[in-house]
Amino acid sequence: MQNPIIVALDVPTADAALQLARQVAPVVGAFKIGNELFTASGPDIVRRIRDTGAAVFLDLKFHDIPNTVAKAVASATRLDVQMLTIHTGGGLEMMRAAEKSAQQTALQSGRNTPLVLGVTVLTSMDGSALSEIGVGTDVGRQVERLAVLAINAGLRGLVCSPLEIAGLRQTLPAQVQLVTPGIRTGADKADDQKRTLSAPEAIKAGANWLVIGRPIYAAENPRAAAEAILKTLM
Ligand code: C5P
Repeated sequence: MQNPIIVALDVPTADAALQLARQVAPVVGAFKIGNELFTASGPDIVRRIRDTGAAVFLDLKFHDIPNTVAKAVASATRLDVQMLTIHTGGGLEMMRAAEKSAQQTALQSGRNTPLVLGVTVLTSMDGSALSEIGVGTDVGRQVERLAVLAINAGLRGLVCSPLEIAGLRQTLPAQVQLVTPGIRTGADKADDQKRTLSAPEAIKAGANWLVIGRPIYAAENPRAAAEAILKTLM
């Protein structure tokens, strides 16, 4: 089994990110670089984490016209990231352009093709937030609709909330990779995560990858915290 733990490097500086990455690298599968760290530190932090030998999930959630997203995906692919995110709400054509760009750029630059992950409905949005933006359907149906569209566009993976995993597993082809945040053990605070599962529960439901932030980086001993979570999966 590959190690499914992806640690969210939700820290403000490159130094803090590198220190955390070095500490926990032996017991986790990859690192997620999101908007906070990337906006502060730029592509250099991606290179520095990659230089340690670790896999990188670049979570910048691209959402723009197809040509622009394709170029952003090409840049991310040249940075040699292993996973990246786009918003499925950008539509079929945008998603197709993103996947094609990942594959072509990888071929041209001698990299492996990154897994382009579709983000469906942000978990911060509920039914009334959806209707405010003119989407007159419930959250579950909208997630499923966008997930199916993403797979039709050629994406090979999705980000979903823990409570969406089981339903998507029934709807989508088995090879689709599902990445889920919102992982907490019984002992953790839920923080601002409203819908959570424990790591083994999420894997049992059908997740391939678990994005874990505060339960690891805010722990007194991040390495011990990551190790304890890994043990629950063995
Ligand atoms: O600290 P915590 O474990 O809640 O971190 C979860 C990570 O996953 C954060 O980087 C957060 O931005 C991200 N995420 C999330 N919920 C989503 C999508 C991404 O928590 N629906």
